[in-house]
Amino acid sequence: MFNPEEFITEAIAKIKDEIGDEKAVIALSGGVDSSVCSVLIQEAIGDNLIAIFVNHGLLREGEVEEVTNTFKDKINFKYVDASEEFLTALDGVEDPEEKREIIGKVFIDVFQREADKTDAKFLVQGTIAPDWIETEGKIKSHHNVKLPSGMVLKVVEPVRDLYKDEVRQIGLELGLDKKIVYRQPFPGPGLAVRVIGTLSDEKLAVCRKANKIVSEEIEKEGLNKELWQYFAVLTDTKVTGVKGDQRDFGYLVVLRLVSSVDAMTAYIPELPWNIIRTMSKRITSEIPEVTHVALSISDKPPSTIEFA
Ligand code: XMP
Repeated sequence: MFNPEEFITEAIAKIKDEIGDEKAVIALSGGVDSSVCSVLIQEAIGDNLIAIFVNHGLLREGEVEEVTNTFKDKINFKYVDASEEFLTALDGVEDPEEKREIIGKVFIDVFQREADKTDAKFLVQGTIAPDWIETEGKIKSHHNVKLPSGMVLKVVEPVRDLYKDEVRQIGLELGLDKKIVYRQPFPGPGLAVRVIGTLSDEKLAVCRKANKIVSEEIEKEGLNKELWQYFAVLTDTKVTGVKGDQRDFGYLVVLRLVSSVDAMTAYIPELPWNIIRTMSKRITSEIPEVTHVALSISDKPPSTIEFA
C-alpha cells in the first residue's frame, strides 16, 4: 500500500542529498505532475528552486491567474509571458505535428533564456512512470540535458516511479489546492491542438470560451470526477446556421468528453443528455461565431483523445 507521508519524507532526504546547496529550475505548467514536483522540491531546498511558468498564449481562460495565485506565495515562482513569441512562430502553421515541433523549440528557447538568468545546476522534471514505461529503453534514469547554450543541467525526477493517483496523493499530503490536484490533463501544446488548422486570435478566443463553458457545466454537475478529460475542439469546418431570421455561416465545435485510466485507451461514457444540450445551447448562444455543436462518440482506439 502506497504511503504518501513516507514517500515525502524519503524523497525530501534524497533531494537534499542530491541537490545540496545548489539551485534548481523547473518548468511549472500548473499540471498535477509539475505542480507536485515544485512543492516537493521546495520543501527540500526552499527558494533554491526557481519554478518558471511560461505562458505560450495557448492556455485556457483564467489559467494564468489560477496558476499564479496558487504558487506565487508558496514557492519561488516566476511568470514569463512569451505568448507573442509562440504565436508569431505558429503563424500560418496548419499541421498539428509541425505545431508541436515549433512549440517545443520555442519552449526550449524561452526556458533556456530564463534558466540562464539563474545559476541552476539541476533541472527538475515531473516525469511519472507511464511517461517512461511507454518509451522504455529510450529514456535512461540518469540523463543530463545540455541546453543549446551549452549549459548542462542534471536532471532530477522525484516522482518518476509513481502513477498519477499516487502523485495526487502526494499533492494532497503536501497541502496543494484540490483544484490543482484534480485538474484534468491538458496537453503541453495547449489550445494549439484544439484549434484545427491555422491559429488566430479569434479562433483561440472562440476555443477558450467553448472550453470554459464545457468545464463549467461538467464541474457544476460534479461529472469531472468521472471523466478523464472534457473539452471542446474548434474545427476548421464552417457550417450554415440560422440566428434570428438571418442565415449564418459559422464554426463547428465538437465536444469531447472521455473516460480513461491512463489515456492509452478511452471510452465515451453515457452522460445526462440535458447537460450535453445545455453545453450546446450555451456555446451557440454565448459565442456568436459558432453555429453548430457536435458530440464526439469515438473511443480510443481507433480515435485519439485529442483531435490533432
Ligand atoms: P491522444 O490524443 O494521443 O492523447 O489520445 C493522449 C493524452 O495525451 C495528451 N496529449 C498531449 N500531451 N503534449 C502533451 O503534453 C502533446 O502534444 C499531447 N498530445 C496529446 C492528451 O490530452 C491525452 O491526455
